[in-house]
Amino acid sequence: PEPTSYLQPGIFHPLVPSYNRELADLKLPEGFSWGVASSSYQIEGAAKDEGKGPSIWDLLSHRIPGLIADNSTGDVVGSHYWLYKQDIARLANLGIPRFSPSISWPRIFPFGKGPVNAAGVAHYDDVIKTLVEAHVKPSVTLFHWETPLALFNEYGAWNHPQIVDDYVAYAQFVISRYDEYVDEWFTINEPQHCNWQFSTYPAGEYYPAYDGITGGIQSRYLCGHHTLLAHAKVAKWYHDEFHGRGRITFKNSGNYFEPNTTSEGDLDAAQRQYDFVLGWFGGPWAEDGDYPQSLKDTLGDLLPAFTDEEKELIKGSCDFYAIDPYTSYTAYEIDGGSAACAANQSNPAWPECAGSVSLEGNGFPIGPAGDQGVSWLYDTPTGVRRFLSKITKELFPSVPDIVVTEFGFAEPFEGELDSLQTILWDLRRADYYQSYLDNILAAIYNDGVNVTGAWGWAIFDNFEWFAGSKVRFGLQYVNYTSLERTPKASMFQFLNWFKEHE
Ligand code: NOJ
Repeated sequence: PEPTSYLQPGIFHPLVPSYNRELADLKLPEGFSWGVASSSYQIEGAAKDEGKGPSIWDLLSHRIPGLIADNSTGDVVGSHYWLYKQDIARLANLGIPRFSPSISWPRIFPFGKGPVNAAGVAHYDDVIKTLVEAHVKPSVTLFHWETPLALFNEYGAWNHPQIVDDYVAYAQFVISRYDEYVDEWFTINEPQHCNWQFSTYPAGEYYPAYDGITGGIQSRYLCGHHTLLAHAKVAKWYHDEFHGRGRITFKNSGNYFEPNTTSEGDLDAAQRQYDFVLGWFGGPWAEDGDYPQSLKDTLGDLLPAFTDEEKELIKGSCDFYAIDPYTSYTAYEIDGGSAACAANQSNPAWPECAGSVSLEGNGFPIGPAGDQGVSWLYDTPTGVRRFLSKITKELFPSVPDIVVTEFGFAEPFEGELDSLQTILWDLRRADYYQSYLDNILAAIYNDGVNVTGAWGWAIFDNFEWFAGSKVRFGLQYVNYTSLERTPKASMFQFLNWFKEHE
């Protein structure tokens, strides 16, 4: 059976249990893991409460006017730090079996290393306990971009090899404490966002050494290098110490690129994306534990080298492949043009855009490309099915199983201009979830891909990094004045889908 997109541009439709009857009777494989995801800075708020130290994001959101679209911050957002009990109770009441939170490094170690903040630890103790008692299984991310500011100030954080040991000490502290209750660990969220999201976005301003194009590329690849080593060291320790009590990996960021034609130029354009995005962090699945040759050829000395021992450590350091594919693109050669990658075509800091490559969303075109959020309203679902095959059969055949650790749908948020009715009756998002999940089912049954989980992003509206609160991904709406959460239609569509297919 072929899933079809039910939604036609401009035609709204009521929620339906399943619009693809051929897929409707298929059940998910036993043990399929699903739920909703989030990250600490994006939902917790309480940025200065109970001994938390500052992270790089506290600096970025407060100190660089205009960097965040609406100048909002993560200071308060949904205040999950204070409201976690009710949030978890709701997950349990809705029958959501898994929640993927992240732990804030500077809440545990306010200075990144050294003294532990007892209040922060007590907080997460209670979060984990509350989840376990509510029968909502935690899948925990250890680092979702909250680099402790102290480490950034001391040595440039992810640019420096010292970060590896400091991260390992933090990760070992957390894993040792919660190992009994957590069976899935993610060391790092989307290292592909090195280094902008991780530490050195304002590098030029704060670290002149990292300024300029070469410094920028260098720090991007140094950051990637250190995250791979940090992940691999923690994974080795976890495997040795806990002997398969749970599983550990990191979350990849990446989207599907369909070559526009079979011309060499278009095929190269797509391949370049895979090499520079997924291939960059493909070491754990590569036979030699190393970077792809194409990266080494293009980047030369800008790409740090692993020792043989490090390659051995990296190889096999992931127990499963985790990926957050939100959307898909067409990759093709152009002479100029205006779409996403075009702006970076001649910027050496973006080798994946090199040559004359342009990328454009697949499916229904809504809004101008480049307007963050609006340009994400693409018809991903058909892309994700092909992407899951591409990753497991072509790019990394040694992957045993793959989990979609985030997928979700952004809508621009106009504040009080939007009526609550429109926000809650989010049919395009509902359609996205239904169609996306149908395509996962088709990947499993039609294409034989071993997909073992899928988690919606996000539990509720949150701080969307550079887009602030102007773009919302929530399955629940959050009123930032009253902090009330209200499930959107998409939440029910999401839940109904699992009810039908479990
Ligand atoms: C992936 C990131 O992990 C998450 O933090 C972000 O909010 C979503 N993508 C949506 O952009």
